[in-house]
Amino acid sequence: MGFISSSTILLLYAHLATADFPSAAQLFQLSGQDTVNNAKLSWQAVAGASIYEVEQRSGDGDFSTVGTTAGNTHDVYDLPLNQPLDWRITARSNQTTIDQSALVSLTPFTPSADYNTYDNTVASDALLKSELVFNKTYYRYDYEAYSNGSFSRFVEKTSSDGYTYTGNRTVLTSTTLCASANYSCKLERQQFLKHPDGHFIMWAHFERSQDYALGQVAVAHASPGGELIFDGAFQPLGHDSRDMTFFADGEDAWLISSTNTNTDMNIYSLTKNWTAVDELLVQVNKAAYREAPAVVKQNGWFYLFTSRAAGWLPSQPQFIAARSMAGPWSAAVDIGNTATFASQSGVVESLPSVQSFMLADRWSANWPIAGGPNRQLALPISSSGAEGFAAYHFYPTVKYSDQVSGAGQGVFGVQEGRILSVGRPSSSNAGSSDISLANDGTQDTPNAFFTPSQVPFWYQIDLGNASTVSRVELSTNMVQGSETYYDFNVTGSADGSSFSLIGSKHDNVDVGFVSVASQSQEKFRYVRLNVNSIENAHNGNEADWARGISEVTVYGQ
Ligand SMILES: *[C@@H]1O[C@H](CO)[C@@H](O)[C@H](O)[C@H]1NC(C)=O
Ligand SMILES: *[C@@H]1O[C@H](CO)[C@@H](O)[C@H](O)[C@H]1NC(C)=O
Ligand SMILES: *[C@@H]1O[C@H](CO)[C@@H](O)[C@H](O)[C@H]1NC(C)=O
Ligand SMILES: *[C@@H]1O[C@H](CO)[C@@H](O)[C@H](O)[C@H]1NC(C)=O
Ligand SMILES: *[C@@H]1O[C@H](CO)[C@@H](O)[C@H](O)[C@H]1NC(C)=O
Ligand SMILES: *[C@@H]1O[C@H](CO)[C@@H](O)[C@H](O)[C@H]1NC(C)=O
Ligand SMILES: *[C@@H]1O[C@H](CO)[C@@H](O)[C@H](O)[C@H]1NC(C)=O
Ligand SMILES: *[C@@H]1O[C@H](CO)[C@@H](O)[C@H](O)[C@H]1NC(C)=O
Repeated sequence: MGFISSSTILLLYAHLATADFPSAAQLFQLSGQDTVNNAKLSWQAVAGASIYEVEQRSGDGDFSTVGTTAGNTHDVYDLPLNQPLDWRITARSNQTTIDQSALVSLTPFTPSADYNTYDNTVASDALLKSELVFNKTYYRYDYEAYSNGSFSRFVEKTSSDGYTYTGNRTVLTSTTLCASANYSCKLERQQFLKHPDGHFIMWAHFERSQDYALGQVAVAHASPGGELIFDGAFQPLGHDSRDMTFFADGEDAWLISSTNTNTDMNIYSLTKNWTAVDELLVQVNKAAYREAPAVVKQNGWFYLFTSRAAGWLPSQPQFIAARSMAGPWSAAVDIGNTATFASQSGVVESLPSVQSFMLADRWSANWPIAGGPNRQLALPISSSGAEGFAAYHFYPTVKYSDQVSGAGQGVFGVQEGRILSVGRPSSSNAGSSDISLANDGTQDTPNAFFTPSQVPFWYQIDLGNASTVSRVELSTNMVQGSETYYDFNVTGSADGSSFSLIGSKHDNVDVGFVSVASQSQEKFRYVRLNVNSIENAHNGNEADWARGISEVTVYGQ
């Protein structure tokens, strides 16, 4: 059972000791350490709960409490290596237990040398082997366009190691692919998969080069080393089709695409050869305006990740989960961060370690007020127990490998210090109502934010002890339509009266989430966010009405 309504929980609770709310965990590394022996736990908030107790056990030992928090995440540090650990979360209201999570389990480890580093603070490439492999040759099909944006050709490139490619063989031209669009077309989200019969199959979103009026898909297939044979461009079973994904599990494959001009999303089964649509299995995300579908299967669950249709600006990511692509699918669950860490839900990369990471799209060059080159963020996805629940998190650096197959060892984040801010006393010169929401550890929940009474304002966290601060992250209210960016800086103080600079973001145009690297080696007990102004990301106008601090996270030691 994945997702049950709160009324169902109450009914179940009358009969069961626990209803097992969903939780997930991932291991991460603290920068400067050799081991991967810290865990980030996440869970789905339980209605009526005011506090969560996190318990841990090693092997067959007894559970002991390792933390309590009001939010839906918790870090545990310095775990023993090479032994399986279990965690469970207990949701309480005052002293009363409302619910307890199922167990999540992980084994802290010391990584081998075979990892690539993904730097989430600059433009980076994920180095992963193509799954289009035949007779020890890896294939890749590069999409090339003319300067006016119209498709020109697909180029086949080959590789013997799966990473470095050479070649310049034209395998499909605009004369063939674009004929139905008066010889000027474009493809988006083109995806290639290997059919069990050895063919490589491509599905893509097909449009005229100048607009998005067609709402079609294009299909092609190739024998390894052969031409890319075009199988047609059309609306699947007559439904308009825009952002899409093509996903396979064994012999079966599906096309998932936004339809009714991005209002709803359809899941179609494909024919045995994967080059034609068989039937419309189910419509999901109804009237939810979701885009950028991406599917991954883990532990018997299919997860469908999406962004919200929001142009190029960041949006709230969600997933739905099911045991079968035909459904039943769960209700939508908010994930990650209300602004996808200043990006949009993108594709999911699966690894041999039965792990995956989100490659979120940061379309910053296309923002109305541009924010640097477009790039992608790698966000490790947490494994869950048996409930069809997922979580992902931002780290400045991520280590990943498609060579390491040890369970849970293929991808991990590197965090710059411990989280020092969650649940600590806070204050502001702009009121205190709901102020604890700004450092409760929850950053994926819309409408759970501290609303300062005025702009400019400051907001301050008392870390309790003098600490070296490595990084401060700000997540702000998202309004869905008139998104904002904050002009601010972060300062620190040992005594609460004299402050010096941790980092300045007076030139910030990132929407919804900003990660500030500390430029100070000093020790601070008080960390203060000083917000100068809040601006509409569409036009740069003041937008104080949208003010809201979803979370401020201070990292350090
Ligand atoms: C928790 O306890 C406090 C004080 O005893 C009480 O005022 C409050 O209503 C309780 N909250 C819930 C949700 O029961
Ligand atoms: C695989 O490649 C080798 C070396 O290039 C070649 O001799 C052999 O015929 C190929 N096998 C197939 C099935 O294509
Ligand atoms: C690749 O092929 C195209 C089309 O034949 C040609 O214009 C281009 O110069 C070639 N590029 C290289 C690097 O060989
Ligand atoms: C192709 O051009 C013709 C003539 O201008 C036009 O009627 C038709 O709509 C065009 N087709 C597409 C797909 O743009
Ligand atoms: C874009 O350029 C290509 C190549 O020159 C041309 O065939 C195509 O018609 C152009 N498309 C438009 C919409 O002008
Ligand atoms: C794939 O299967 C469909 C339905 O059976 C058929 O219409 C189509 O021609 C096949 N495609 C290829 C490339 O064989
Ligand atoms: C502050 O330091 C003391 C002494 O090391 C420690 O007991 C306490 O837990 C620390 N407080 C916080 C909030 O870290
Ligand atoms: C931080 O920003 C505030 C508000 O804009 C400003 O008054 C202050 O001088 C800045 N502090 C530093 C150290 O730059």
